[in-house]
Amino acid sequence: MSGLFITIEGTDGSGKTTQIKLLEKYLKDKGYNVVCTREPGGTPISEKIREIIIDKNNSEMTGITEALLYAASRAQHTSQVILPTLNDGGIVISDRYLDSSIVYQGFARGMGEKLIKGINKYAVGELEPDITFFLRLKPDDSIERKEKQAELDRIESEKASFHQRVYDGYVRLSKRYRERIRVIDALDSIEHIHECIVRNIEELLNRNSI
Ligand code: TYD
Repeated sequence: MSGLFITIEGTDGSGKTTQIKLLEKYLKDKGYNVVCTREPGGTPISEKIREIIIDKNNSEMTGITEALLYAASRAQHTSQVILPTLNDGGIVISDRYLDSSIVYQGFARGMGEKLIKGINKYAVGELEPDITFFLRLKPDDSIERKEKQAELDRIESEKASFHQRVYDGYVRLSKRYRERIRVIDALDSIEHIHECIVRNIEELLNRNSI
């Protein structure tokens, strides 16, 4: 595998989309083959699974169903989009990946990291992002940003304590995987965050001679 796998993580409304667009442009301008994608989603099948997951009418969905659906969506996404792009020497930028499941289902829903990793073994195999950016935004700021949006989906509608556990979960993961997960203050300016991401990516591209 010769490409680069970048993931962006963060609580809802932390500005991931803006940063992904900026990074995509930066890397495309440098001539790289860049594929931007997202989870849950990224393929037609995965997007259909996404609809089921976030549908507010599916309030009776059990935790294990939810976790398996995220993993199913990820399995298709990994084999249909991520691996082929990386094998072809391209750069994948994914809005969320396995860390989201560990944090949301494992920590926030309380299903445990071990179970979530076990389920996802079928979806990701040995694949791990080369680098992950965690755009850190405290739950209160996150809620404030989201309140400006018209309608919240099933996950966004969870209560404040859930979002606090998500936040704590990300902080915990980023401390454990310091090498891979870079923490960036999401309240920093858009330009500054972009510069910080670019600096880290350049370092990696040079180190891996990509
Ligand atoms: P999305 O609508 O893309 O939200 P955002 O724009 O904040 O990224 O993602 C849908 C929701 O799914 C989001 O609240 C996070 C959640 N999620 C999980 O709970 N587990 C997962 O494995 C993934 C990928 C997302």
